[in-house]
Amino acid sequence: MQDLDVNEITDAVIAQMATTPDPRLREIMEAAVRHMHAFAREVQLTPDEWLKGIAFMTAVGQMCSPIRQEFILLSDVLGLSRLVNVMHDAKGREAAGTETSLLGPFFREGAPEVPLGGTLARAEGGPEILMFGRITDTEGRAIPHAVIDLWQTNAEGLYDLQAHDPSEMDMRGRIRCDAEGRYHVRTERPLGYSIPMDGPVGELVRQQARHGFRPAHIHILIAAPGFRELVTALYLGDDEHVDSDTVFGVSKSLVVTTSDDLPDAPMKGVPAIRYDFTLSRESGEAGGRVGSDPSRLVPAG
Ligand code: BEZ
Ligand code: FE
Repeated sequence: MQDLDVNEITDAVIAQMATTPDPRLREIMEAAVRHMHAFAREVQLTPDEWLKGIAFMTAVGQMCSPIRQEFILLSDVLGLSRLVNVMHDAKGREAAGTETSLLGPFFREGAPEVPLGGTLARAEGGPEILMFGRITDTEGRAIPHAVIDLWQTNAEGLYDLQAHDPSEMDMRGRIRCDAEGRYHVRTERPLGYSIPMDGPVGELVRQQARHGFRPAHIHILIAAPGFRELVTALYLGDDEHVDSDTVFGVSKSLVVTTSDDLPDAPMKGVPAIRYDFTLSRESGEAGGRVGSDPSRLVPAG
């Protein structure tokens, strides 16, 4: 009969789990138990508090549906999505490409094809901006005909799914670079927006007196054969939340500003962003990223 004190309980659990045949599962569960027990000891967790924690996680699960993944949103606001993605990005590629960012829940397959110089906006709306640049490999060589998916909010901070009938795609499109890896596309200047606040994660964010906003951004997914798919976003530097993104998606290298006088802009008279993307070659390390879209949670392997 074991008589376990507050420290011995941790070793006893780990000893009992030592039979786990899968070595990676054993490693992960051992560390999870060690850290969870250390956390409970550190904050002197009470039974009432732990029951509240269990009720919270139950509510998070109950909020999930085929189109809503509250657990990923929780992972996002705790910075865990960013941490796991950054560690993944550092592995299995021969040299650093453009930094990545969160995929988010608003990506949609099958966005309309937009010709080079065309616009993502289906109707006249807010102020127009131009985005242009090149796609290269890590040695600076052009990647011809890479496919770029772009999606964003409109000038009111709404994705198409939120703004109107979801069957109509807007503020998103798929463009194909030219043979020299160049692209240019027009769009509406996006506005920042709040993450979904109507569930338990929103309630937690409110209890923490956090604002819950993401700065204005344009999501970008670039695919080219032989290269690691790049999931990233460009953030508008003049947004008030650019330094306090509630899901920690912003990196310095992804912050951009528009300019009226870029000499190499392929169209004049429209505020423009020049951004060159660098793709790293795939080198064996496969596996998905944590995004907020459950349909894109590709298992590793
Ligand atoms: C987004 O950028 O679309 C997003 C990312 C994480 C949580 C919510 C929204
Ligand atoms: Fe977004």
